[in-house]
Amino acid sequence: MSEKKVKDIYATRRNILKGLLGAAGAGALGCMVVPFGTIKAPSGKKKRQKIVKGDKLVYAVGPNAGKEIKVEDLKVYKGTLAFPKGKEQHENLILLFRAKESEFKKPTKIDYTIKGFCAYSAICTHMGCTVEWYPEKQFSFDFPHLFCPCHQSVFDVFHGAKVLAGPAPRPLPQLPLMIADNVIAAAGDFDGPIGPQPGGK
Ligand code: FES
Repeated sequence: MSEKKVKDIYATRRNILKGLLGAAGAGALGCMVVPFGTIKAPSGKKKRQKIVKGDKLVYAVGPNAGKEIKVEDLKVYKGTLAFPKGKEQHENLILLFRAKESEFKKPTKIDYTIKGFCAYSAICTHMGCTVEWYPEKQFSFDFPHLFCPCHQSVFDVFHGAKVLAGPAPRPLPQLPLMIADNVIAAAGDFDGPIGPQPGGK
């Protein structure tokens, strides 16, 4: 797909979202996409706290920010930004979503998913913007996907977050998941480097 076509799609979506905001308010938007621009990279550089097995996930934004994410909270095709509890650092920002288990194909690490839940780093591998969850099927992307609003990179959530469009140089790293006390939790750290890397790789 050409970059122009992706930009056209993005512009169209923005117009749709503006219309939704005007018609139904921000509440309607909140259930469609994960809003971006709400999580900023910190100015100071602090060493990232690694995510370890058993770290429970909490909402990163919205009225439930800081609350643990329970299994029943997210229905199929719902997504949210999340943090590992107690390790709320920008580099640890997670895009958690739920889909049908049968939709995940390699190179997705299927054993990293659980009950249809899947999680990737929310930090774009191009220049570090926060990616968005787009569950709706429309335009040329007829399946749920992740979208980076900064330069229109598109990631295929069912195939290991591989890059479908845009300048992102590599997929988003995946986070292994487990369930602990009915709460979605990490089963370890991301399977690759987070965000942009030296040399643009
Ligand atoms: S920062 Fe995501 S496409 Fe550029």
